[in-house]
Amino acid sequence: MPVFLWTCALVLLAANDAVAEGRDSAKIYGASCAVCHGDKGEGKTIGINRFPAIAGLQKWYIQDQLIKFKYDGRGADYRDKGGLMMHAMVRTLKPQRSKDLEIVGEPEIEGIAGYISNLPVDNSSKLEKESDDESLNASIERGRKIYTAEAPSGCVLCHGDKFQGNNKEDVNKLLPRAPMLVPLDDWYMLEQLGKFREGVRGPVADTKRAKQLLGEKAKLKMSDQLDGPALMQAMSLTALVNKQAVKDVVAYIYSETHPSN
Ligand code: HEC
Ligand code: HEC
Repeated sequence: MPVFLWTCALVLLAANDAVAEGRDSAKIYGASCAVCHGDKGEGKTIGINRFPAIAGLQKWYIQDQLIKFKYDGRGADYRDKGGLMMHAMVRTLKPQRSKDLEIVGEPEIEGIAGYISNLPVDNSSKLEKESDDESLNASIERGRKIYTAEAPSGCVLCHGDKFQGNNKEDVNKLLPRAPMLVPLDDWYMLEQLGKFREGVRGPVADTKRAKQLLGEKAKLKMSDQLDGPALMQAMSLTALVNKQAVKDVVAYIYSETHPSN
């Protein structure tokens, strides 16, 4: 091998090693994420743009979502303004590559997911909540009924009675892992529930569960996974019958997770 090529190969190998070792997650967070999500992952408002609180979400969930953002599972729809931002931002997290430059792992995504999940949730210093008009029009009591309804129509089955989510999938019970809702802002939940309903949050793969919930309404493509966006679309179409129901359930969740507001 000519010396020049040999040197190139060594440089690449060295770069590969460097990536494998991983850059410091705290530094990456400070340099690439804090500008929008806040130093402590508490969320931020910049002008008319709002950026969600992410501190304390489960590691597996953050990792899943970052992988989705990167590989077009989320933030790839032209209607999804917020998601498109993350679709771009996740590219600052470098993959691990093999000698022939194939992507063989996403250690930076894993590292930063661990870092964010360890940031403490602090709901006391909150951003302003959704405009008062909207919250005044919502009924916390109606929201409670929607949230706590028996399976399959309630939210409590997957998101838990303390909004803690579910960390253990049970395929036999068609129960997926689900994110905690504790750190989430009300405006963010409202937006996401709209995106699930419209199929904007990601390609909607069908699931047994979604079919079960949707029955005849199922027009979705088949796949056997417990796919989050498909389940949430099914929930939106069954439990959240109209915009008012969405506001009610969000008002309930937020009143429980942010009692000081
Ligand atoms: C330019 C602003 C911006 C930057 C920088 C940014 N984000 Fe985001 N992020 C957003 C927006 C907006 C959303 C909400 C997306 C949506 O509406 O679906 C989001 C959503 C997320 C979510 C999903 C939260 C959830 O509850 O599902 C995670 C996780 C996340 N960001 C992590 C990161 C990480 C890690 C970085 C740094 C590598 C980062 N973000 C940098 C704007 C940003
Ligand atoms: C069958 C389980 C299941 C049920 C029931 C369910 N969810 Fe979910 N939910 C999920 C999963 C899984 C996700 C993650 C979706 C993804 O991967 O994008 C999710 C995501 C969400 C999110 C977005 C979280 C984030 O950080 O972006 C919100 C908000 C939400 N659900 C609210 C609700 C509400 C309100 C109800 C009741 C009307 C409900 N969910 C019922 C499983 C469920």
